[in-house]
Amino acid sequence: MDASEKKRSAAKAALEFIEPGTVLGVGTGSTVNFLIEMLPSIRDRIERIVSSSRASTKLLQEQGFDVATLNETGDIDLYIDGADESNKRLQLIKGGGGALTREKVLATSARRFVCIVDDTKLVGMLGSFPLPIEVLPMAQELVSRRMLKMRGQPIWREDFVTDNGNHILDVHNLQITIPLDMEARINAIPGVVTVGLFADRGADILLVGSDSGVRELRT
Ligand code: 5RP
Repeated sequence: MDASEKKRSAAKAALEFIEPGTVLGVGTGSTVNFLIEMLPSIRDRIERIVSSSRASTKLLQEQGFDVATLNETGDIDLYIDGADESNKRLQLIKGGGGALTREKVLATSARRFVCIVDDTKLVGMLGSFPLPIEVLPMAQELVSRRMLKMRGQPIWREDFVTDNGNHILDVHNLQITIPLDMEARINAIPGVVTVGLFADRGADILLVGSDSGVRELRT
């Protein structure tokens, strides 16, 4: 089974968590795109729907969904999104697609966060995947210097502007031994909008697509 098929199987398993009357948050990325394709089959269970990016909003609208804002819905029942890495405590690196800030807002507003990944994303220690940070353009140099001091190798994502008008710094070679601590330290740098470490608000349930089926991990 290739990675796409594993992603698709994890997305399909997530449909089970959508109960009648759900206010649903939808993330961003290729795994979530499989979910969006399948959502029409359980449309009657969805009370309202919110999205973490312009890209997902467009795909949802193409499927005939009327996408609400988080300010309209208030807290959501369920958030489903992918990740770039997860450890066994379901702390995540996210932001490969650059939607990390809105994703963290939705995850924080959700009563339950179900994360869908293929089995290559499950790691012992976070940090092999470069850590994305959304940064105000005028703070680029400051944040780069601070990340060098933290022994990371910061690389600006070229020709990329987030849905919020900011830039993304991808930080390579970080040893993320204490994710909660690193999330707080990076978020405290002025000019950082959000770091793509989801340690304080990690997933509640991780659905891992693999050759042998979909494994469910819980915190
Ligand atoms: C987007 C994300 C995605 O969830 C993450 O990059 C995983 O993407 P994919 O499902 O395409 O592997 O955080 O900002």
